[in-house]
Amino acid sequence: MVSSKAFLLAILGCACLCSSILAARELSDAAMVERHEKWMVEYGRVYKDTAEKAQRFEVFKDNVAFIESFNAGNTKFWLAVNQFADLTNDEFRATKANKGFKPISTSVPTGFKYENLSVNALPTTVDWRTKGAVTPIKNQGQCGCCWAFSAVAAMEGIVKLSTGSLISLSEQELVDCDTHSMDEGCEGGWMDSAFEFVIKNGGLTTESNYPYKAVDGKCKGGSKSAATIKGHEDVPVNNEAALMKAVANQPVSVAVDAGDRTFMFYSGGVMTGTCGTELDHGIAAIGYGVESDGTKYWLLKNSWGTTWGEKGFLRMEKDISDKRGMCGLAMKPSYPIE
Ligand SMILES: *[C@@H]1O[C@H](CO)[C@@H](O)[C@H](O)[C@H]1NC(C)=O
Repeated sequence: MVSSKAFLLAILGCACLCSSILAARELSDAAMVERHEKWMVEYGRVYKDTAEKAQRFEVFKDNVAFIESFNAGNTKFWLAVNQFADLTNDEFRATKANKGFKPISTSVPTGFKYENLSVNALPTTVDWRTKGAVTPIKNQGQCGCCWAFSAVAAMEGIVKLSTGSLISLSEQELVDCDTHSMDEGCEGGWMDSAFEFVIKNGGLTTESNYPYKAVDGKCKGGSKSAATIKGHEDVPVNNEAALMKAVANQPVSVAVDAGDRTFMFYSGGVMTGTCGTELDHGIAAIGYGVESDGTKYWLLKNSWGTTWGEKGFLRMEKDISDKRGMCGLAMKPSYPIE
């Protein structure tokens, strides 16, 4: 009798525990559903049916768990739920936001005008934003033309430094008109061939003259050039000291592997640790500096809007043991010349 009573109590106790676990899970799922719905509104996401919504919810939940567990164990940099939160990492890698950098395999060696500068004589901190040489963060959306944004950011920089005027220039003109080289608009391209196009074209027009549409379009001829360049050079590859010499003098186009999940959800701090080196994304190095804990970093401008990273910017560890740099940033840097 006694033992069966205890048995009954044990069963009841277990049932209670189980139902409270279930209730807690339902509660957290309900909170997550609400979070997903708020996120959908924030990013204007609409799903075609409840099946797609349910599937995207599972991805969202998995990403939130990844982000929260990453942040619990890291202090150098942190992640946040952003516009990519309902994509798996594989899907993200295949998006046009990520894929768009396509260099030709054989590149002609160029001169390097900063070769004789001494690294020790360079400033310890550079931020071209403070010199008015960086336009506000832009957003390439679902068009693989990071190459155009990267080239334009570097060009806007050198134009400001040589003329004194910061002019927001047109990526769409490159997307629509730079189609006779290996650049392919929203299908990808290469910053060096964008510079070539600008030289042949006699310059680029302004962003407002030829606004960004995030789709391939027909080239509108006769756009009035607002600024031009005379040439372009590559920074010696896999050489962060050489990159520092260039960035100390002007914003520089760089390519990175932006496919890692930590890059996808990067939200702030100095990105450190392991990262891929399969270059797929073009951005711009607009400075460098040192954190209070002594960590050296590159300051970079991305083209994924202000909801990604440090209001659209990114910092990555500088002078790492891998000569290719964080995410391969030292593998293919180049800059325009005035
Ligand atoms: C660097 O110095 C070497 C040796 O003096 C010289 O030949 C070369 O032209 C210099 N490079 C530049 C870009 O000024």
